[in-house]
Amino acid sequence: MSLPTPATPEAVFTYAAPRLKFGPGAVSEIGHDVAGLGARSALVVTDARLAATGHPERVAEALRSAGLRAEVHDSAAVEPSDASLAAAVERAKGAAPFDAVVAVGGGSSIDTAKAVSLLLTNPGELMDYVNAPVGGGRAPEQPALPLVAVPTTTGTGAESTTVCVLDVLAAKVKTGISHERLRPVLAVVDPELTATQPPGVTASAGMDILCHALESWTARPYTSYEHKTPEQRVPYCGSNPISDLYAEKAMRLLAGAFRGAVAGEERARTDMALAATFAGMGFGNAGVHVPHANAYPVAGRVHDLGSAFRPDGYDVEEAMIPHGMAVASTAPAAFAMTFAADPQRHLTAAAWLDPQGLDADVPEPERLSAVLRRLMRDIGQPSGLAEIGYGEADVDGIVSGTMQQQRLLATAPRVVTEEDLAGVVRASMHHW
Ligand SMILES: NC(=O)c1ccc[n+]([C@@H]2O[C@H](COP(=O)([O-])OP(=O)(O)OC[C@H]3O[C@@H](n4cnc5c(N)ncnc54)[C@H](O)[C@@H]3O)[C@@H](O)[C@H]2O)c1
Repeated sequence: MSLPTPATPEAVFTYAAPRLKFGPGAVSEIGHDVAGLGARSALVVTDARLAATGHPERVAEALRSAGLRAEVHDSAAVEPSDASLAAAVERAKGAAPFDAVVAVGGGSSIDTAKAVSLLLTNPGELMDYVNAPVGGGRAPEQPALPLVAVPTTTGTGAESTTVCVLDVLAAKVKTGISHERLRPVLAVVDPELTATQPPGVTASAGMDILCHALESWTARPYTSYEHKTPEQRVPYCGSNPISDLYAEKAMRLLAGAFRGAVAGEERARTDMALAATFAGMGFGNAGVHVPHANAYPVAGRVHDLGSAFRPDGYDVEEAMIPHGMAVASTAPAAFAMTFAADPQRHLTAAAWLDPQGLDADVPEPERLSAVLRRLMRDIGQPSGLAEIGYGEADVDGIVSGTMQQQRLLATAPRVVTEEDLAGVVRASMHHW
């Protein structure tokens, strides 16, 4: 179903991003950078597995060398929940005061650091700030502590965004805290830190990059919305000329680097880190839509499946679906569903991702889906939701979970109904 035509079309788009320092060795300058914020003490937030690589302690040492007091908390859980974030906040409060927070890790550590920096300066509980209707939807009154984000995965773009994603355990749903005050003040992207990333993490986090780029590129244009007042403006404003540039660049880089990065090619690492950065800067302003909306219930409901599925590269005892894998799990069918809303954009993306034209014979509505399926197969993603343990009995539950993600569905290039989503979920049971 097409989008309604706005009575007064939007004419304004917005763009924001943190300061960026990028390149091999960039992290060695972090003491200078954090001291430059006027900070004299900093909390380094990471997760336990990453702490074992030594990266977070080296960051803390660099901070100490610049004269700061620095403490490392390995308080981040992989794919954080309301409980894990609240525990990280309590631990940080116990060790406070700090002047700044430094996140060292993937999206899980960066999002945990966002919650910590928010709640070290603002009153109330975590759930007060979680998006309504799951949480209280309260806007932070005070600026958060300045956050410097050092990503160690090539994926989420969380170093650029205003969002903290969390699993709300009681509600069995993933949602977020979303506010401009959560955006890091500085992103330090050092591709050397990603060298220890396991191949399975490179694959899943890389699918997150790809879907960021594809979803922001195919997001409804900012001009398709009703004109907003200044108070109504939100960080995600739909596809626009600036996010389009970033999405294109990210896709072209991924086409050349993704398979090689998963295979461990050193050369591909910098291109993946650049792609993650570009895609983050793009989707952090345009927004994402159906694959990300589906990812929340797909990842959230796996805990109750009793599935034996354990993703490669993730050190987990129970079934879990990494965020990027959850996003990718319905992406081929989702882009077949959105194709008619803007065929040219879908075909252009397919051509960027498949420069050799290996899928050029596939009928146009299915071409982008075919490019995605071939890539997912090559990098070892699951063959469909069925491999993870989902079946026909789960379709309605996934669809109703996706329908709760109206903030994301509102960015889709067409009106998305429950029937559309059920078709996407069913078509995603077996990709090959
Ligand atoms: N805030 C946002 O804008 C945003 C966007 C997308 C996703 N997310 C969230 O980010 C999370 C996923 O983050 P992710 O994909 O970056 O992975 P992650 O942070 O969950 O890390 C995955 C695993 O890889 C390990 N790891 C990370 N870097 C490593 C390295 N260099 N060497 C060795 N091990 C390493 C971690 O210890 C962990 O075990 C999800 O919770 C997702 O919802 C947030």
